[in-house]
Amino acid sequence: MGRLLPVHPFLLLLAAAAFAAVVRSAPVYGPDYLVDGNQLVDMQYHMGPVLSASPTNLYLIWYGRWDPAAQSVLRDFLASLSSTAAAPSPSVSDWWARTPRLYTDQTGANVTGAFVVAGEHSDAGYSHGTSLRRADVQSVIRSAVYAYPDPLPLDPYGGAYLVLTSPDVAMDEFCRAVCGFHYFTFASVVGVTVPYAWVGNSAAQCPGKCAFPFAAAGAEYGNGEVLRPPNGDVGVDGMVIVLGHELAEMATNPLVNAWYAGDTPTAPTEIADLCLGVYGDGGGAGVLVGNVSRAPDGTAYNVHGVNGRRFLLQWLWNPVRGACYGPNSTN
Ligand SMILES: *[C@@H]1O[C@H](CO)[C@@H](O)[C@H](O)[C@H]1NC(C)=O
Ligand SMILES: *[C@@H]1O[C@H](CO)[C@@H](O)[C@H](O)[C@H]1NC(C)=O
Repeated sequence: MGRLLPVHPFLLLLAAAAFAAVVRSAPVYGPDYLVDGNQLVDMQYHMGPVLSASPTNLYLIWYGRWDPAAQSVLRDFLASLSSTAAAPSPSVSDWWARTPRLYTDQTGANVTGAFVVAGEHSDAGYSHGTSLRRADVQSVIRSAVYAYPDPLPLDPYGGAYLVLTSPDVAMDEFCRAVCGFHYFTFASVVGVTVPYAWVGNSAAQCPGKCAFPFAAAGAEYGNGEVLRPPNGDVGVDGMVIVLGHELAEMATNPLVNAWYAGDTPTAPTEIADLCLGVYGDGGGAGVLVGNVSRAPDGTAYNVHGVNGRRFLLQWLWNPVRGACYGPNSTN
C-alpha cells in the first residue's frame, strides 16, 4: 500500500480531512490542503481497472429543478472532454489528455480519451426528497434505470452515472466536508456495479466552500481573490470545477482500487485531491489560485471548451511530471 513519505503537515491535514469526509470525496475548499508540488507524493497503483472504455458512456441524472441554461453549461463541459472536441488550446480536452489519460491499469489500458453523454434522466419530482444521504445516490440511480417511461440504460460495460443536484438539495456532509464524491453502485441496489459521481450545486448553501474561487472562502483563509465565473453562474461554474475533480478521480480510481496515495482505500488521496485549489502557475501555496486568464468581460478561465465556452478547472496530479499540472501552464 502507498505511504506518504516524508510525512508532510499538509498531507496529514489532507488525510485527516479525507478521513472525516469518509471516502473518495472532493473535500471542501481549504488552502491548508494544498501541496506545494515539489514534495514527494506516493501516488500508487493498486491493481484495479481504470475507466478505459472508448467511448465511456455518461448518463446524467438531473435531480431537482434545473434551469436549461445551467444544464447547457454542464453539457458543454462534458462535450469538451473528448480528444475530438473542437476548442482552442489550452482546452478541456488538453486538460484531460495531458493528465488523466496518462494513467494506465494492469492490462495496459489508458484512461479513456472519449466520452459521450449517452442518456439523460430528469428527476424533477425529487424521488428521494430534498435532503439526501450518501446511500440515497445509489437509490436515485436505481430509480432512473427502472423509471417508467424512459428508463436510463443500465450499462455495466462502458457506463458511468452522474447525479447532479439542484441548489435546493441538501446532502450529508455537503459544505461541511464534501462538495462531491464518486464511488460505485452495489449490485444489490442497482443490479450491477458501475461507477458514479454526485455533484451538488452549492450556490445557495456554501459557495465559499464548494464554488471557490468564485465566492470568498471566508476570513479564516485570508483575503483570497474572488474570480468572476466564466459562464456567469457561481453555482454552475463551481459545479464544473467539482465535476472535473470527480471525473478525473472516477476515471483513475473507479472502483477505489486503482490510483491513489495513502494507506487506506477508505481515505484515499486521489489525483485531484492533491491539487485542490490550484488553477495555474504559482498556485498551491496559501490562498493563491495561480495564474489564470481573463476574458474581455473580466471573467476568469484557464481552458476553452466547445461552443465558445470557457471554463476554470483545477489542476491534477500528473504522474509523469510528479506535480500538479494543467494545460495552461507555461512549464
Ligand atoms: C497512456 O499512458 C502512458 C503512460 O503514462 C503514456 O505514455 C501514453 O502517452 C498514454 N497514451 C495516451 C494515448 O495518452
Ligand atoms: C504569472 O504571470 C505573470 C504575468 O504574465 C508572470 O510575470 C509570472 O511570472 C507568472 N507566474 C508564474 C509563477 O509563472
